[in-house]
Amino acid sequence: MGLRKHPDEFASYDPHESKQVTQIRTQVGIVGAGPAGLVLAHLLHLEGIDSVVLENRSRQHCEERIRAGVLEWGTVELLNQMGVGERMQREGLIHYGIEIRFGGRGHRIDFKDLTGRAITVYGQHEIIKDLIRARLESNGQIFFEVEDVSVHQFDTEYPSIRYRQDGNTHEIRCDFIAGCDGFHGICRPAIPTDALTVYERVYPFGWLGILAEAAPSSEELIYAYNDCGFALHSMRSPQITRLYLQCSPDEDLAKWPEDRIWQELQTRLADDSDWRLNEGPILQKGVTGMRSFVVEPMQYSRMFLAGDAAHIVPPTGAKGLNLAVADVRVLARALKHFYSLGRTNLLDQYSVTCLRRVWRVQRFSWWMTSMLHRHEGNPFDQRRQLAELDYVTSSRAASQSLAENYVGLPME
Ligand code: APR
Ligand code: PHB
Repeated sequence: MGLRKHPDEFASYDPHESKQVTQIRTQVGIVGAGPAGLVLAHLLHLEGIDSVVLENRSRQHCEERIRAGVLEWGTVELLNQMGVGERMQREGLIHYGIEIRFGGRGHRIDFKDLTGRAITVYGQHEIIKDLIRARLESNGQIFFEVEDVSVHQFDTEYPSIRYRQDGNTHEIRCDFIAGCDGFHGICRPAIPTDALTVYERVYPFGWLGILAEAAPSSEELIYAYNDCGFALHSMRSPQITRLYLQCSPDEDLAKWPEDRIWQELQTRLADDSDWRLNEGPILQKGVTGMRSFVVEPMQYSRMFLAGDAAHIVPPTGAKGLNLAVADVRVLARALKHFYSLGRTNLLDQYSVTCLRRVWRVQRFSWWMTSMLHRHEGNPFDQRRQLAELDYVTSSRAASQSLAENYVGLPME
């Protein structure tokens, strides 16, 4: 028998394996150290609930993975309440509006006037750094670079997660499993397919995104509808601009040298003034496809799916991270209810509670995507899009609808 390395660890001999299987006992086993998994782990910690996070990539990879950067007011509020918002408060950029540009003119959607709320621009990878630091400073257990993760018996009272690390097999015995392992993870596929319903729409376009060492050319985000295609001006800091342009879903990056990227962005973001985009060295570029995806229900017995493991939104509404946080806020509250009162009613309602927001956010993300992206074919659609843009930017009611969804609907 292996020696106990940890009060909660004990080794057992697995007849199917030539080596011992080290076992760990915890309350919640979490697969994935993205925003969903890390926010959940810290929320549980704050309620005195023990968890272990399993992540198959390295800490460095997770902290350097460039993703989205817009935080709803509710997400900012929650991160501050969790005590992980200090650097976000210092470095995050507070924005009280966005610009929608079409027909050579810019139209500002004034969040402060329309909702009294703001968004904060702060890179997702920065949040990951803050959360990992907070977890480790609280003696939280995050196992990076694990391999062959699999989930078991989650339809019993004794779920377990097995994984390999350093050539050894390990097993986590827990009360619940949180599948926070993203769209390509292993948790959702582990649920019997006849128990799930998938809703999906794949878009005929994607985004080519760049991170550039150039000062932002506007203080706020610019969403541009142009005959050549959609473009988005965002940022990460006073020195770093984040830009995207609509492309085909399988665009070949090799056909996009830096000068072509800048030329296309200048064209699509131009207006009738002498405004020009600041250019600079491109630090990172990539192409991402675009889909809307929801799986129902978001739970199966004692396994709960959260974030991209359960749903994907097109990035036009800047909702992916915020929806992941909203899911785990519901899950943490339900788990606290179970451990403090022994009642499963909130856990039983987890999926229904999350899906109400998920579908509202899916609608908004689809609507922003459909309004702003040029798609070939019927000229009727292009005229309809221009009419929608004209209505949204000239009607207070329509602007307010966009604004309240963009800054974030009230959390459940
Ligand atoms: N075992 C362990 N970890 C895994 C496995 C696995 N089999 N598969 C995936 N993971 C990890 C990934 O490496 C990633 O760190 O799970 C994590 C999932 O994180 P995300 O994909 O970021 O998903 P989520 O936490 O739901 O956050 C959604 O992140 O990707 C963005 O656009 C997305 O903004 C959205 C947000
Ligand atoms: C980003 O800054 O990465 C960003 C901003 C707004 C979006 C999508 C991405 O809609």
